[in-house]
Amino acid sequence: MELKELRGRSIAFGTNITLPLLFHNGAVPFAKTFLRRIKLHMKKESKADWGKTATLKATDNLIPCVRQAVKSEICVFDCSRAYGGAEQRLARALRDIPREKCFIITKIDDQSQFLGKVEECFEKSLKQLNTDYVDLLLLHWPVDYPKQEDERFNDSVPVFARSWKTMEKIYRSGRAKAIGVANFNIVHLELLKKYADVMPMADEFECHPLCIRKDLNEYCSKHNIQVFAYASLCSMDRRLLNENMKKIAAAHDKTIAQIILRWHMQRGRIPIFGTSRPERISEYANLTDFSLTDSELAEIDSQNINYRAFPDSEHCDFTKDIWLGWEKYKNWCP
Ligand SMILES: NC(=O)c1ccc[n+]([C@@H]2O[C@H](COP(=O)([O-])OP(=O)(O)OC[C@H]3O[C@@H](n4cnc5c(N)ncnc54)[C@H](OP(=O)(O)O)[C@@H]3O)[C@@H](O)[C@H]2O)c1
Repeated sequence: MELKELRGRSIAFGTNITLPLLFHNGAVPFAKTFLRRIKLHMKKESKADWGKTATLKATDNLIPCVRQAVKSEICVFDCSRAYGGAEQRLARALRDIPREKCFIITKIDDQSQFLGKVEECFEKSLKQLNTDYVDLLLLHWPVDYPKQEDERFNDSVPVFARSWKTMEKIYRSGRAKAIGVANFNIVHLELLKKYADVMPMADEFECHPLCIRKDLNEYCSKHNIQVFAYASLCSMDRRLLNENMKKIAAAHDKTIAQIILRWHMQRGRIPIFGTSRPERISEYANLTDFSLTDSELAEIDSQNINYRAFPDSEHCDFTKDIWLGWEKYKNWCP
């Protein structure tokens, strides 16, 4: 399966529902993660991705969810080194499925970028995923670049640009069939242009009816960058359950979640959804037996309130842990 074949046809299952595997990365990182979780829990700041959906039950359900996805012909899986052992579980779940039937995305974590260990990180991913190639390799976040007002702005190379040179090397070796980025805004993509020989083929960013990211979507479409929309359902936020959305769903005899995923597809995006419940996955199995009209698409676009469920990468200080105290970044979102 190639990247260009997915457009308009596929949705992706997001695997970020796992607690880190016990001692998976060694005892010290595990203890640190464990303490961090307790701290987040006590501060009631566990709303971000790995706090909200990663529960013991969800972790246990990753393998059944992936198996149900394959049965439902959803064969695109979004993973990362940062998803607490999800790569290993994904590999276990896909053990009996021919490799060419699946499209596997994984990402280079922030720490590996800072340490200049992109290649090592990728090697670990291949090992955990039990494969010799990935279909799409992404930089997880645009770490780190000087702000425009910083005097280093004109002459220092952002960490992500250095990481990108290794990504290009991996791409040329054939071990990643495509390379791209995640959480890159226009400013990051424009900056990357100065250093790249191969431009990103995909950008994965937060996008849902409450935050449609019009400019970034248009930029990607103009530059031939395939958009993967994460938090594509915005966790079915109750603001999406309004009369207008219900009317569209009723007109097609579908659920609002199905309508939203279809809206992404018709807008040329590949939506990534998350669930810890295998039974929900069959609901999303066939989304090609109906089409939304132009006015319905426009109505869903008009739900936009620029609400962000995840931090805006333009305002993150990547030298700090962006997930601790992440709530404050929300106030800086457009
Ligand atoms: N690149 C990045 O930086 C980045 C950041 C965030 C996410 N992601 C990727 O995107 C994936 C999905 O993100 P997400 O989990 O925020 O997406 P999401 O699909 O918008 O939200 C998932 C949440 O929605 C709930 N849900 C799903 N279908 C529902 C329905 N029909 N009715 C009510 N609730 C429903 C799920 O609960 P149940 O478990 O109860 O179904 C789950 O808590 C992640 O796993 C990850 O792969 C990437």
